[in-house]
Amino acid sequence: MTATEHPYDVEATRNAADRAPDAGLLTGTAPAGEEGSRVRRVALTGAAGSLGSDVAPGLLELGYELVCIDRRAPEHPAGATWVRASVNDRPALAEAMAGCDAVVHLAGIPQEDDWEPIMTANIDGTQAVLETANRLGVRRAVLASSIHAAGFVPVPPDGERVPDDVVIRPNTFYGVTKAAVEALGSLYHDRYGMDVICLRIASRQARPTDTRMLSTWLSPADAVRLLDAALSPAATGFRTVWGVSANARSYLSPDGGAAIGFRPVDDAEAWAAELLAARTEPPAGSTDWNASFIGGVFCSPEPPRYAPPTADGQVR
Ligand SMILES: NC(=O)c1ccc[n+]([C@@H]2O[C@H](COP(=O)([O-])OP(=O)(O)OC[C@H]3O[C@@H](n4cnc5c(N)ncnc54)[C@H](O)[C@@H]3O)[C@@H](O)[C@H]2O)c1
Repeated sequence: MTATEHPYDVEATRNAADRAPDAGLLTGTAPAGEEGSRVRRVALTGAAGSLGSDVAPGLLELGYELVCIDRRAPEHPAGATWVRASVNDRPALAEAMAGCDAVVHLAGIPQEDDWEPIMTANIDGTQAVLETANRLGVRRAVLASSIHAAGFVPVPPDGERVPDDVVIRPNTFYGVTKAAVEALGSLYHDRYGMDVICLRIASRQARPTDTRMLSTWLSPADAVRLLDAALSPAATGFRTVWGVSANARSYLSPDGGAAIGFRPVDDAEAWAAELLAARTEPPAGSTDWNASFIGGVFCSPEPPRYAPPTADGQVR
C-alpha cells in the first residue's frame, strides 16, 4: 500500500465554516480484518481530554476498538472501554493495554507547568507507556508531541515551510518534555524496533481563534484523519509529523503527513477576514511573538500555564 492508496476516505469539510468540525464527517470502513498488519484495538491515553474527546468518536466511527485510559472520568463517555487510571500507574496501565495492537498516547500536561509535575506526567508517563507497550508486544505507538518542542524556530519567510523534522528548540519546560517524548520514541524504535510516530501537534481547537492559528490550526476532523494515518501500515519507523490542517497560510511542511497518507482538508482561511479584523498590534517596542516564532506566545516570558481541572479525582 502506498500513502496515496490510503483506504479510508473522509468527506471534505473545507467550506463548512459554521458547522461543528467534528460532526458526521467520517465515511471510512472498519479496519478489522482488512489486512494482517492493520491496527484494530487501540489504547488511547488522555482520552477524556480536549484532543481525546475530539478524536475518540471519529476513531470509533472508522472501526477502531478503543481502550480509553485517563486519570479522570470522561464528561461524555463514548462507545469504548474506559479505564480510569494514571499512566504512571504501571500495573494498571499494563492491564489496560493488554491485547491492544497500538497505543495513541495523548495523556499529559499540555501547557507550561513547574518542572516536577510536568516531568512526571509527560516524561515518566511516556516512558511508562512505551515500556509497557514493548513488554506487551504492542508494536506501534503514536505519541503527542508538540510544536513547542521546536517553538523557538523562527516563523519562515512567506512561501517557505518548516520541515517536519526541524531540530528541537523548546520554548518552555513543556516543550522540553515534548522533546523528551520524541527522544523516548526514537529510543524505543531504534532499540526495540517499534513503529513510533511523533505528532508535532500545532493548535488543536474547534475553530481558529487568533491570527497565528491561520497557520497552525488543527481541526478536530483533521486530527482524526491524522491519527488514522499514523495508525496505518504506511506509517513505519520513527517519524516526526506536523499535526496541522490544510491551512492556506500554513508554514509547517505537509510532507511528513503526506508520507503516511495524512490528507487534511480543513483550512483556517475561512476565518481569516474575521480574525485579521479583530487583531490588535502588540505595544510599540514589544516582541510580536506570534509573528516571530512558530511557538508564538509560548516563547514569551509568560507562557500560558496549565490550570488542572478541579473535577473529583484529578491528581497532579
Ligand atoms: N491541544 C493542543 O493544541 C495541543 C498542541 C500540542 C500538543 N498537544 C498534546 O496533545 C495531548 C492532549 O492535549 P489536550 O489539549 O487534549 O490536553 P488536555 O489537558 O485537555 O487532556 C489531557 C488529558 O490527559 C489526562 N492526563 C494527564 N496526566 C495523566 C496521567 N498521568 N495519566 C492519565 N491521564 C492523564 C488528563 O486527565 C486529560 O484528560 C497532550 O499531550 C498535549 O501536550 C496538544
